[in-house]
Amino acid sequence: VSTRPLPSVTPHSRPRTTFASLAAQKAKGEPIAMVTAYDYPSAQIAEAAGVDIVLVGDSAAMTVLGHDSTVPVTVDEMLMLTSAVRRGLSSPLLVADLPFGSYEVSDEQAVASAQRFVKSAGADAVKIERGGSSVARARAIIGAGIPVMGHVGLTPQTAATLGGYRSQGRTAEEALTVFDDALALQNAGCFAIVFEAIPTAATDAMMPLLNVPVIGIGAGPGADGQVLVFHDLLGIYDGHAARFVKRYAELRAPMVAAVTAYAEDVRAHRYPQPEHGYGMSSAEAAHLTGLLAERREHPRPRAI
Ligand code: KIV
Repeated sequence: VSTRPLPSVTPHSRPRTTFASLAAQKAKGEPIAMVTAYDYPSAQIAEAAGVDIVLVGDSAAMTVLGHDSTVPVTVDEMLMLTSAVRRGLSSPLLVADLPFGSYEVSDEQAVASAQRFVKSAGADAVKIERGGSSVARARAIIGAGIPVMGHVGLTPQTAATLGGYRSQGRTAEEALTVFDDALALQNAGCFAIVFEAIPTAATDAMMPLLNVPVIGIGAGPGADGQVLVFHDLLGIYDGHAARFVKRYAELRAPMVAAVTAYAEDVRAHRYPQPEHGYGMSSAEAAHLTGLLAERREHPRPRAI
């Protein structure tokens, strides 16, 4: 493992995002930029890019841990990722997803899980999915002093009960259910709500009725902000991309090419070159040769 520091990225000198600054952005109609991050370098990139909110999403289960859904990721895994992201961030607000199974059972379970993310991983807030019983959990966590972001529409933790990874609220009645969930989460005290995979027209119809910032992902341009998954927007993740993903780079191919070139260089003795090694004076090298010759003739007993 290299002990060299990571290449520095020019920091975007921005004021810290606060809950008040997010509300002000909504009031002024200034879009909120949010992205996921899962480790120290991705956090440093989000910091340098000057985004407003960084989410340690449970999408980590798929993008980082290789599961085929968000369900299996554990609290301990999410805590480790959130701590790494915390070390790479200073200005953006840091939100951590409470993973599936860590908040549904009771208010006590929800508060205890949320406290771990704030106390030991340094999260500023947590995110939970769905309306229904999650509304009471959100109220309990907020009551314990921890800010909560809600998440409605397509909620990947319970995608199976929604009929799979498909857009939600496509009929007026279904869209009303999404709205009722969002309003209940707002009334429970959530500081913002993610709308995932709902029709643009449904978002537009709901926006005038919500006071807290709405962050969309596949919910059209009418939301107060947008969020994308880091690996999706950078083209690192090799898998199915949802319709709402816009790729801003195709990094997977150059990454594979770079590692392939490295392996080829190693096999062809082209790496390392003299400039990649450390120097020793010829006098010291000759002295060492002598010492090693002596050692070969008179080996020291091995230490036990
Ligand atoms: O887990 C995640 O990355 C998310 C975003 C897609 C909002 O919940």
